[in-house]
Amino acid sequence: MSDRILILDFGAQYTQLIARKVRELGVYCEIYSCAAAVDEMVAFKPNGFILSGGPASVSAAGGDEKQPADSPTAPAEIFTMGKPILGICYGMQTMVAQLGGAVENAAQHEYGAARIKICQSNSLLGERDAALEVWMSHGDRVTALPPGFAVIAASANSPYAAIADETRNYFGVQFHPEVTHTKQGKAMLARFVHGVCGCGSDWRADNIIDQLVQTIRQRVGKDAVILGLSGGVDSAVAAVLLQRAIGAQLTCIFVDTGLLRLHEGDVVMQTFAELGVKVIRVQAEEQFLARLHGVADPEQKRKAIGNLFVEIFEQQAAAIDDAKWLAQGTIYSDVIESAGGRHGHAQVIKSHHNVGGLPQRMKLKLLEPLRELFKDEVRKIGLQLGLPTKIINRHPFPGPGLGVRILGEVKAEFADMLRHADAIYLEELEKHDLYQQISQAFAVLLPVKSVGVVGDNRAYGYVLALRAVESEDFMTANWSRIPNEILAVIANRIINEVRGISRVTYDISSKPPATIEWE
Ligand code: XMP
Repeated sequence: MSDRILILDFGAQYTQLIARKVRELGVYCEIYSCAAAVDEMVAFKPNGFILSGGPASVSAAGGDEKQPADSPTAPAEIFTMGKPILGICYGMQTMVAQLGGAVENAAQHEYGAARIKICQSNSLLGERDAALEVWMSHGDRVTALPPGFAVIAASANSPYAAIADETRNYFGVQFHPEVTHTKQGKAMLARFVHGVCGCGSDWRADNIIDQLVQTIRQRVGKDAVILGLSGGVDSAVAAVLLQRAIGAQLTCIFVDTGLLRLHEGDVVMQTFAELGVKVIRVQAEEQFLARLHGVADPEQKRKAIGNLFVEIFEQQAAAIDDAKWLAQGTIYSDVIESAGGRHGHAQVIKSHHNVGGLPQRMKLKLLEPLRELFKDEVRKIGLQLGLPTKIINRHPFPGPGLGVRILGEVKAEFADMLRHADAIYLEELEKHDLYQQISQAFAVLLPVKSVGVVGDNRAYGYVLALRAVESEDFMTANWSRIPNEILAVIANRIINEVRGISRVTYDISSKPPATIEWE
């Protein structure tokens, strides 16, 4: 078992960032809710703990003078395990309150960049007198230290910016080392996980693959496994990983709905054939178009596509002898988001329309080999397992595909037009080195006709909208500022090369209030 850090979550928006930074340092970590059972934390056998920030207030009225009843605390047992602890912001405050110090509401709340000075050399921050640029975001502040602690860094506004009890290896920082605005934040986390906790850096793509392969082999034995391939990164990486682990016991089912991007089906088939993965391709375009005939409402379309997908998937899967497992490309952020940041016992199934509910219906056991990995780790192991960058770096694509990018009723001619225009758009973004900077770009076909002129003739064609957004998590997004000259080239090519489209517009709505997709 590799070295590991347990991150106790008090509900901060940055908790995932802490976990990602620790993993980037080559150390395995997991996020547990501060309300999780302490036995589970002990069983995890962490080399050290990080207590996250959080929105609650240690000093809020309502409890005893040390800590109010309704503010979350760390289980008392973690202070008896002899393991290093780093408390960040709220994590520091609760540690201080729980160990006998005091926290009060600060007269002046502190948000944003701050400069602090190290007042005694220490194993978390470095040498005495060095100045550090850090990111603060807190209302409460520590006013008295628990026994054994000393101040290790301070500023005029934050006399307890960082504290330590180096005999017990307990550290607290009022600022956020996990955000990039804290210039030396990653170095601090590195000193904590490697130096203080003694963790090695063996959480690397090759080791991760070896560990996952072993676990998959142990769980699956000689059983057959089915996996629904969507063309997206997660299911693709799950497929190649399973192929490495169990080879011919894996069968992938790829349902070509006819609502995919240009050449997508062929690219998927060729890529996996080269990697030796067994894939059954089901050509179902006509069935999907028939099912969508006359359906214009977005949710009805989603349902129609989802239901037909499940029917087709079930038929195909029924023909595979001895299938006992259904594999899915669920990743760690799906688990955290669906479980609301808690380390619960609920099996969280990715709410992807393709597979939601399938394991129960089909009486299959669920296999989620990427469940503990972040997206960047999934990409790294995918590359290591031989998936080409064109699959690894692809923008996300919704399960219902072009079905929700053709507004209103879906027709074959609309899908063809949209596919063609979308391919031109993406090709130009690649050509101008913009594709990787943009989180998601795609075209949307509007069923509205508008007048144009082609040569000497009046053209009466459809309107196309181009969408491009930059986003960390797709919950919020900014529209991308693609240079006008490049937009001009894209619009010009689309109008000239795609018959039936006479006008191109660019969507400048951010999320919220708009969503990324138009339907
Ligand atoms: P919205 O439009 O909700 O999109 O801002 C956020 C992200 O989710 C994707 N998306 C979907 N993915 N099935 C999916 O698998 C869907 O029905 C669906 N709708 C939106 C969207 O592409 C974006 O990345």
